Amino acid sequence: MQKKIFAYIMSVLLITLIISGIFTVQTIEKQHFSNMEEKLVSASYILSQVLSEDIQADNIEHIKAVLSKVSRELNVRITLIDRQGTVLGETSYDPSLMENHLKRPEIQKALKGSVGKEIRFSSTMKLDFMYIAQPIYRDDYIAGVIRLSTPMKEIKGLMKSINGNLLLALIPGLFLSLLLVYRISISITSPIKEIKNAAVDITLGKLDPSINITSRDEIGELAKAIDFMAASLRDKINSIRDKNTRMEAILSSVVNGIIAVDSNENILFINPIAQKMLNIDEGDIAGKHLLQVIRNNKIDNMIKGILENKSFEENEISLNYPTQKIFRLNSNAIKYPESDRIIGIIIIIQDITEIKKLEKMRSDFVANVSHELKTPLTSIKGFVETLKAGAIEDQAAAVRFLNIIEDEADRLNRLISDILSLSELENRKGKTRYEIINTADKIREIISLLQNQAVHKNIDLIVKVEADVRMLHGDPDQFKQMLINLVDNAVKYTPEGGKVQVTAYNTKNEVVIRIKDNGIGIPKEHIPRLFERFYRVDKARSRNVGGTGLGLAIVKHIIMQFQGKIDVVSEVGQGTEFILSIPRET
Ligand SMILES: Nc1ncnc2c1ncn2[C@@H]1O[C@H](COP(=O)(O)OP(=O)(O)OP(=O)(O)O)[C@@H](O)[C@H]1O
Ligand SMILES: [Mg+2]
Repeated sequence: MQKKIFAYIMSVLLITLIISGIFTVQTIEKQHFSNMEEKLVSASYILSQVLSEDIQADNIEHIKAVLSKVSRELNVRITLIDRQGTVLGETSYDPSLMENHLKRPEIQKALKGSVGKEIRFSSTMKLDFMYIAQPIYRDDYIAGVIRLSTPMKEIKGLMKSINGNLLLALIPGLFLSLLLVYRISISITSPIKEIKNAAVDITLGKLDPSINITSRDEIGELAKAIDFMAASLRDKINSIRDKNTRMEAILSSVVNGIIAVDSNENILFINPIAQKMLNIDEGDIAGKHLLQVIRNNKIDNMIKGILENKSFEENEISLNYPTQKIFRLNSNAIKYPESDRIIGIIIIIQDITEIKKLEKMRSDFVANVSHELKTPLTSIKGFVETLKAGAIEDQAAAVRFLNIIEDEADRLNRLISDILSLSELENRKGKTRYEIINTADKIREIISLLQNQAVHKNIDLIVKVEADVRMLHGDPDQFKQMLINLVDNAVKYTPEGGKVQVTAYNTKNEVVIRIKDNGIGIPKEHIPRLFERFYRVDKARSRNVGGTGLGLAIVKHIIMQFQGKIDVVSEVGQGTEFILSIPRET
């Protein structure tokens, strides 16, 4: 740009200089020429007047003296010619050696009465000459011609020196203008360069370009406009960034997973919850293909189906890795505002694993309750029918049957009260009685209640409570029920002659109660499910000892009310230990 401007201005300058130079030289040359001509014409006129009388008097000597004087003064060559063309006098040459001049055009013109002007080669002097010939009148007729001439060489020499001077003046002038033009081109291009740099800065995201242009011309206006544009761009980008941050914050705090993909299944957005749900490693995954990130054909097929059929329905999928999960996926089209064009889909993912589990537990519970209630009822009904059919007549059998009916009724009763206390525990949810429980006293009271049962089975039931064991805080009835259930199990699942030991002691923040037996033990795989309702390791065996599988479910609820925890350590054939850790009163 700078070079271009420089070249343009320089060429315009040069052309102007050359044209005006040529014009000036020509004008000067013309001027000089006409000056010279005028000088010769007037001098020749004066001479023709002066010499008119001398010619009449034939005063040749005087004529020669005048001519040579004038010739010296004016630095011109003078020739005097008579009517016949004979050269009478000549200042630069011997007239006797000169040929007849009658044929010379300037002489011809002068003899006709006008001033002869001619530029031509002089055969006498071998040079180009300017000739001015003037007629000399004697009375009324032309007696001769006076001719003044000067060599063109002189005019040309003068012109050469003028040209040389002009050229001499031109070189520094040219040099100066070169410098000036260079400065001008820089002053034009440097603000443009500055504006260009600012534009590059803006493209690179630097939205506060420093343009130091204060001129009031178009460039200044352009700089101002760019400054203004950058500022408004900055404002717009900031507000978009703000909006985006807010939107991302909102979408990130939603409890459900959100994934948005375009119609090529490239991820537009995914929130952290979705990443966690689908076990996607952190990192920049926007723009990647869904399959590249999720690697789950079920989800991929679902999205493909939605994109193809444009049906947005609810889907459930289960994933087995890393843990078993069930997700509910709701999808919807992302449409361009004010048009129906679908540019992608948004999928809301809800983790329904827990809901599904609860649903299953509830339906299992209903099935289990019905089953558990039906068994004793069937048995009762059977024995009643047998009695009615005649067994009532047999006294001994009747008593035996009635005892069984009573046992089954007791079992029903226990079952119903267990179910009731469980549902009561579930419904209460925190709204329990809060009392100070004397841990040692309460444990001893419970053990004495179960002592009979243990003695009956020839089981050694031992209590080891440290003297300073701390008080607990909670519902004493619940505490009692929890311990009864655990000690009852220990006695129930320990063969005759075994040993059950209850220990209680303090730790830094808790009271620990351990119920340890040397009974049948629990296989490892059953331990995680032990606290589920109706869960029994060996259904037949448990039912034989009157178990319904609700005892430990109740224990689990109660220990939660106490904000404590329960652990199980068991070895098949060796025995089991339940360890309760309950936050203590200070
Ligand atoms: N100390 C223990 N030793 C061995 N197995 C045990 C022990 N405690 C519990 N179990 C196993 O855990 C299962 C669940 O116990 P839970 O107390 O919930 O039910 P239950 O004893 O069968 O019936 P109940 O509702 O009458 O207590 C039992 O059926 C039994 O198989
Ligand atoms: Mg039990």
